Amino acid sequence: MPHAVEALLDAAFGADRHGRTAYRLRIGTSAIPRLSFAAFDDGELVGTLQSWPIALTAEGPVAESHPLIMVGPVAVLPERQKQGVGRALMDHMVAAADASGDDALMLIGDPEYYDRLFGFNADHTGGWDVPGPVERHRLLARLKSDRLHGRKGMLGPAETDPAALR
Ligand SMILES: CC(C)(COP(=O)(O)OP(=O)(O)OC[C@H]1O[C@@H](n2cnc3c(N)ncnc32)[C@H](O)[C@@H]1OP(=O)(O)O)[C@@H](O)C(=O)NCCC(=O)NCCS
Repeated sequence: MPHAVEALLDAAFGADRHGRTAYRLRIGTSAIPRLSFAAFDDGELVGTLQSWPIALTAEGPVAESHPLIMVGPVAVLPERQKQGVGRALMDHMVAAADASGDDALMLIGDPEYYDRLFGFNADHTGGWDVPGPVERHRLLARLKSDRLHGRKGMLGPAETDPAALR
C-alpha cells in the first residue's frame, strides 16, 4: 500500500514533490494513523490524506515548542478529481481531529478550497516561519483554541513518541 500512495502522490503533484516546503516540515516524522485516510473505488486507491506531528518553536530566551498537526498531502487521482473524494477525506480528518480534541491543524494549500469548506485560514499564521519558500496566503491553520494566537516561531518536525499518537 505505501507504493500505491506514493504513485498517487506522484500523479497528483509530480515526482519532484519531495523538495516542497511541506515535505521539509515533517522530515523524520511518521504519519498519524488516526488522522490519515485513504479512499478506494473497486479496490483501487483513488485518494489519500496524511497528517503529521509538527511543532511551532517560538522565539525567546527559552525556546518553547508548541505541538500542532500538519495536514497533507491531500491528493486525488487526476481522473477522479472534482467528484467529492477530496472533500470526503477532509471531512473525515476534521471530524476525527475534533473528536479527539486536536486544537491546532495547519496546511499549505488553496484558501479558496480549504477556508470555504473546512475553516482553514491565514488569520493567525503571520508570525510563522517555514523551512523553505511559501506563499503566505497559502499558509493556513484551523485553530480551535487561542494558544497559538500571536505566536511567532519556526515550524518543523515534532520530536514525538509515535506511540502517543495512535
Ligand atoms: C485539491 C484536491 C485534493 C481536491 O480534491 P477533489 O476530490 O478534486 O475535490 P472535491 O471534488 O472534493 O471538491 C470539493 C469542492 O471544492 C472545489 N475545489 C476542488 N479543488 C479546488 C481548488 N484547488 N480550489 C478551489 N476549489 C476547489 C470543487 O469544485 C468542489 O466545490 P463544490 O463542492 O462547490 O462543487 C484534488 O483536486 C487534488 O488532488 N489536486 C492535486 C493535488 C493538490 O493540489 N492537493 C492540495 C494541496 S495539499
